[in-house]
Amino acid sequence: MNSLSLPVLLLILSVLQQQVSAINFEWGTTGDVNFAYDGDASVYAPHQLKLTMGVADAFFHASSGRIRYVHPISLCSNTQASFNTSFMFRMSAGLANSPAYRGDGIAFFVSPAAPDAALPAPPLPTTKGLFGGLFGNSSVLSPSHMHMKQKGPIIFAVELDSSQESWDPNDNHVGIDIGSVVSSYTESLNLSGIVLNSGRDIAARVEYNGKQDKLHVYASYAGRHSVRVLSYQSLRLCSILMGGPAIVGFSSASRGSVETHDLLSWTWQSS
Ligand SMILES: *[C@@H]1O[C@H](CO)[C@@H](O)[C@H](O)[C@H]1NC(C)=O
Ligand SMILES: *[C@@H]1O[C@H](CO)[C@@H](O)[C@H](O)[C@H]1NC(C)=O
Ligand SMILES: *[C@@H]1O[C@H](CO)[C@@H](O)[C@H](O)[C@H]1NC(C)=O
Repeated sequence: MNSLSLPVLLLILSVLQQQVSAINFEWGTTGDVNFAYDGDASVYAPHQLKLTMGVADAFFHASSGRIRYVHPISLCSNTQASFNTSFMFRMSAGLANSPAYRGDGIAFFVSPAAPDAALPAPPLPTTKGLFGGLFGNSSVLSPSHMHMKQKGPIIFAVELDSSQESWDPNDNHVGIDIGSVVSSYTESLNLSGIVLNSGRDIAARVEYNGKQDKLHVYASYAGRHSVRVLSYQSLRLCSILMGGPAIVGFSSASRGSVETHDLLSWTWQSS
């Protein structure tokens, strides 16, 4: 009978635990079972996920969709919980690029994975400005600075927002959303020269350093030198998630617009 001593077993378990907490993945091939699509999101071509329905310049009904990495990620299992995620997207409001026809943009989200989590189940709401089911109406009524009064873990998102709601600075900005579609912090993209819904491919990257509580967002048109477009200094992601595992993905909504929201690539690394 060959049995392991308890200390050896504990050592093996802790090594395994550290291995599962470091995650790398890349989205892009069709039929990859590690990813799920909610709402209207559908893979249109290799390396082209349409998060919302339709093509630029054609009117269509309000649409919303999400992509998720299906496996919960233990971001808070050690003190250094950090991630680095890069993605390419394309949003086009086509020729009818006027405020009336803009969609809501794309949001990268980190949601609590618990069954009672805040991430609404499909069918997703297409309500104006609510990012395709990420945040319910109540989040508009309870702005982000109130979020910590809510009970339980809440959704965190980086929004790439191409429409202007009453609480937004303009229709071309990046924002930090903590439990609410009303951002905690925003930066206009106008100085960077990037127009989110220009139809050009935009490369973006979100880096989070959990040791320093810092989050940076970088962006540029594809092939250009990326610039930092937002820094957020005191993000306690693990208190937002209440230490639990997370589901990560992208969400988008178009309302009744002519704007398209396509995800072209996505890689993730976390430790
Ligand atoms: C994140 O990934 C990008 C692209 O691979 C890389 O250029 C960058 O240095 C990484 N950042 C950190 C903090 O590791
Ligand atoms: C949420 O928004 C929808 C659509 O505007 C509306 O029908 C519904 O009554 C709202 N719910 C709440 C709780 O405000
Ligand atoms: C920023 O750019 C957007 C898109 O081009 C434009 O609609 C908006 O008016 C600009 N806002 C400011 C404050 O310059």
